[in-house]
Amino acid sequence: MNTSTQRPVAIVTGACGALGSAITERLAEDGMHVVLADLDIGRADALAAKIPLADGQQLLPARVDMGDNASIAALVALVGERFGRIDNLVNNAAVNHRGSLRDFDPDKWDHMMAVNLRGPAVLCQQVIPYWERQQSGSVVNIASRAWVAGGPPAYAAGKAGVVGLTRSIARELAPFNVTANAVAPGLIPSAFTMDGRSEEFFGAMAERQINQTPLGRLATPQDVANTVAFLLSPGAAYITAEVIHVCGGSQLAPLGGANK
Ligand SMILES: NC(=O)c1ccc[n+]([C@@H]2O[C@H](COP(=O)([O-])OP(=O)(O)OC[C@H]3O[C@@H](n4cnc5c(N)ncnc54)[C@H](O)[C@@H]3O)[C@@H](O)[C@H]2O)c1
Repeated sequence: MNTSTQRPVAIVTGACGALGSAITERLAEDGMHVVLADLDIGRADALAAKIPLADGQQLLPARVDMGDNASIAALVALVGERFGRIDNLVNNAAVNHRGSLRDFDPDKWDHMMAVNLRGPAVLCQQVIPYWERQQSGSVVNIASRAWVAGGPPAYAAGKAGVVGLTRSIARELAPFNVTANAVAPGLIPSAFTMDGRSEEFFGAMAERQINQTPLGRLATPQDVANTVAFLLSPGAAYITAEVIHVCGGSQLAPLGGANK
């Protein structure tokens, strides 16, 4: 086991997606060793190859299925073997089988809960021995504005669960000086939000979203990456159990003109 590294080691799950790649690039820019953990190892390799590195800095592409506990344990073993420490977790991977309450498929519900909610809990559980030894660490869980707004029930319930999980991690791991916070983004164009939808449908949805957003635009992956980077930075050392909405104020209920 190599324990010589002093740069913080961050694991980003779903590292190859729209938000994950922006987060990965930003954390690498901030000087961390970054583990690009994704179901799609080909894309993780390709992304790692194009990120510039400082002397001694490393990226580790790694395949993980966040719905599979053994795969998560193997990831943590691999990272421990390579770096000898684990500082930061960004639980970003998620799947979205869309469906209303009327028509959701219970098997797909279970898969979403496994990947979106149980996976982050299992990953945190596996990393506890490192945090206990290091007496420091940080977790950022990517939730969604859907946790307050509602939406497809399995997705919204899973993301509300992520907020509850974040608060539980914050409480249980505070004695090890580990912080845990959630980031709840608004709508961002990505495979996650666009697959299976026509351009017209997505365009109309985006326009409605912008109209309901006080800051008048959609979020970008960089907006999310900047927030994650802050929460993992020394400047955020006393912030824990928070949910930061990165959605331009669209978490507010509409006033219906009552402020005029
Ligand atoms: N895009 C949005 O509008 C939006 C809004 C709010 C929250 N979010 C959240 O942001 C996160 C990232 O979303 P995105 O838009 O970047 O999605 P994306 O589809 O672009 O990326 C998701 C990534 O997760 C990976 N992945 C899927 N299943 C996995 C599994 N079982 N194990 C490991 N990796 C897996 C995919 O390979 C992909 O690289 C998700 O948690 C999503 O709920 C997205």
